[in-house]
Amino acid sequence: MLDAVTGAFSFTGHAIAARLLDDGRQVVTLVRRRPVVDPFHDRIRVAETSLDDLPALTAELQGVDTLYNTHWIRFERGDVTFELAIARTLRLIEAARRAEVRRLVHISVVNASESAPTDYFIAKARLEDRVRESGLSHAIVRPTLTYGEGDILVNNLCWVLRRFPAFGVPGDGRYRLQPVHVDDVATIAVRAGNRGDDLETDAAGPDILTFDEFVRLLAKSIGRRVWLVHMPPMLSLGASRMLGLLVRDLLLTSHEVTELTASLLVSNGPPAGTTRLADWAAAHAGQLGRDYHSELDRHFR
Ligand SMILES: NC(=O)c1ccc[n+]([C@@H]2O[C@H](COP(=O)([O-])OP(=O)(O)OC[C@H]3O[C@@H](n4cnc5c(N)ncnc54)[C@H](OP(=O)(O)O)[C@@H]3O)[C@@H](O)[C@H]2O)c1
Repeated sequence: MLDAVTGAFSFTGHAIAARLLDDGRQVVTLVRRRPVVDPFHDRIRVAETSLDDLPALTAELQGVDTLYNTHWIRFERGDVTFELAIARTLRLIEAARRAEVRRLVHISVVNASESAPTDYFIAKARLEDRVRESGLSHAIVRPTLTYGEGDILVNNLCWVLRRFPAFGVPGDGRYRLQPVHVDDVATIAVRAGNRGDDLETDAAGPDILTFDEFVRLLAKSIGRRVWLVHMPPMLSLGASRMLGLLVRDLLLTSHEVTELTASLLVSNGPPAGTTRLADWAAAHAGQLGRDYHSELDRHFR
């Protein structure tokens, strides 16, 4: 059985491709460019295809059983907008329809809604509607904050914790989040891919923490004492922008601050993920935050 995954050299796509290989499936990945070092050692077929090229996408999806779509952007930059990400995803869905792919598993985000307070969550909700209308057998998987090896947000938070004695918390730090491990997201996605009915499911981890608890847990895991400084969200955003100048990246966006402080990264359903953040962080304490992971280098430059 052949499945397709977008971005198998990126974060969630990598975990889904690895999970499919473990299950004995064949995998083709649609990517913008091949990495210098192939982490899969030629075990997956790499299709270097632009999501702007409908005929090429349709050709690459011939014979595919399930398409796992992870394509999205973390923030808008220059010509790369949420509208463009939607248009590209719709082209991918059209290609899947033309190639008669059996099933689409679409990765969205928890609490995506037209009435959400940020463009990111609104755009995700619009795309979910288009998936529902696609006519394809589909599953929509909605992760909370996703962490794991190769992530950006949790790693970079630890990078800050390793270098500074104080951490600027946006607002009162009492808002909640429910992080999920990327391998749990992959398991939930592949389980959804194996089914035949249209379904929508959150992918959330077993623990709900306040943001303060989350930062303290990570600091403790990497053996750092941290002084949490609560500040107006705009001030913490300003501080992260200054730090961004140093590393030539965007550490945190205003939409992420809004989503965090509104406790949007919490599921309303029972958690399907089983990995506990504390266990994972303890097991990876040696590497967490040692190097900075740049969003701009990874996806925009
Ligand atoms: N990470 C989280 O905490 C989190 C939480 C909730 C939901 N999600 C959702 O999970 C899905 C995957 O997220 P992820 O964090 O694993 O994403 P990711 O690693 O940043 O990338 C996912 C995919 O989007 C493509 N992409 C990223 N930036 C791009 C850009 N600037 N231009 C063109 N293509 C770009 C990547 O292509 P290349 O591989 O070719 O670069 C890759 O195929 C997304 O739908 C996201 O909304 C993520």
